[in-house]
Amino acid sequence: MRKLRVGLLGCGGIGARHAGAVAELPKQMELVACCGRDAERTGAFAGDRAAAGYIDLDLMLQHERLDLVIATLPPFDRSGEIERVARAGVHLLVEKPIALDQQAADAMVAEVGRADVVAAIGFMYRFGDAVRRWKDADTGQVGLYAGAYHCNALHADWWREEAKSGGQILEQVIHQVDLIRHLMGEPDSVYARRANFAHHDTPGYDIEDISAIVFGWDDGRIATLNASNIAVPGVWHKEWAVYAERMTGRFTGWNDAVLTRTAGEAAVEEIAGPTDPFVAQLADVHRAITAGGAPAIPLSEGAASLRLALAARQSADERREIRLTR
Ligand SMILES: NC(=O)c1ccc[n+]([C@@H]2O[C@H](COP(=O)([O-])OP(=O)(O)OC[C@H]3O[C@@H](n4cnc5c(N)ncnc54)[C@H](O)[C@@H]3O)[C@@H](O)[C@H]2O)c1
Repeated sequence: MRKLRVGLLGCGGIGARHAGAVAELPKQMELVACCGRDAERTGAFAGDRAAAGYIDLDLMLQHERLDLVIATLPPFDRSGEIERVARAGVHLLVEKPIALDQQAADAMVAEVGRADVVAAIGFMYRFGDAVRRWKDADTGQVGLYAGAYHCNALHADWWREEAKSGGQILEQVIHQVDLIRHLMGEPDSVYARRANFAHHDTPGYDIEDISAIVFGWDDGRIATLNASNIAVPGVWHKEWAVYAERMTGRFTGWNDAVLTRTAGEAAVEEIAGPTDPFVAQLADVHRAITAGGAPAIPLSEGAASLRLALAARQSADERREIRLTR
C-alpha cells in the first residue's frame, strides 16, 4: 500500500498535535511538508519533523505531490486556501470551526464538493472509545443531554476577539454541539444566554466567558450546554451526561464514561479507552482515500454544526428563542 504524502497547512498549536498523529501512522502516511506564515518559524517547525517548509501554499501544492492536506488555519485566517487545495485534487482534513459565518461555510462545502476529493471536518470527539461504545449500544432514543465545557485561559490573541474566533461557543463549545447532533439528530429550536462576566478589563477580550444553551425538539427532547472561561486555570474540563430510554451515560471525556443500563437487567460498563481521537480521525481519512467511500465526518457536518452554534449565539444576542426547523 502506498503511503499518503501529507502536508500541514498552519503550524501552530493544533498543527503540532496533527503532526504527532501523522507520526503515529507510519505505515499509512508521512508528513512531507508544512506551510506556515513566518519563514523562520515554519522552517524550524518543519525541520523538527524532517519535512519541507513553505510559506506559499501554491508552491507546496506544486512541488510536493501531496495526497492529503491537514488544514489548521485559525477560522478568521481562511481566504480560499481550503478550496485551492481541493481544486488541486488533494484530499482534506479541516479543523473546526469550518468558518465564522454560514455563507462562507456553505460556499466552502459547495466548492470542495465540486472537486473529486475526500474532505473531512475535525470533530474528533466522535472517534473517542466511550462515544463509539454509546453509539453501538442499545440505548433507545436520547431524551436529555447535559454537557459542560470549562476552562480559564487567555489562549491566543485571536481567540479573545469575536471577529477572529467567533467566541467560545463557536470555537470550543461547537465540539459538543456537534456531539449533540451526532447523538440526538437535528434540534428544532435553541435558546441561549452569553456574557463577558469577568474579562471586561482584559485588553482585546470581547467574547463571552460564560454561556448556557438549551436545544429543544418539538417532541419534547432537550439538550443543554453550559460553558465558561472563568473556571480552574490550566484545566480544560469537559463532561456530559446522556439520558436515553434504556441507558444513562456519564462521560468525563471522549474515551471515558460509565454506561448504566436502566431497563431490563441492570448492568454497568466502565469505559476508559486508549484511543487518540486525532489518530483515529486520520486513520478514517486514510481509509476513505485508499479504500474509497466517504469519511465518517464529511466537511458538510462542519457547516451543519456551525449553523447550530451560530443560532445559539444569535439567540443569546437577541434574547429570544430561534427556530431551527419550520
Ligand atoms: N480539534 C481541537 O480540539 C482543536 C484544538 C485547538 C484548535 N483547534 C482549531 O485549529 C485551528 C487553529 O488553532 P491553533 O490553536 O492551532 O491556532 P494557532 O494560532 O496556534 O496556529 C495557527 C497557525 O496558522 C498559521 N496561519 C494562519 N494563516 C495561515 C496561512 N494562510 N497559511 C499558512 N499558515 C497560516 C498561523 O501563523 C499559526 O501559526 C482553529 O480553527 C481552532 O479552532 C482545534
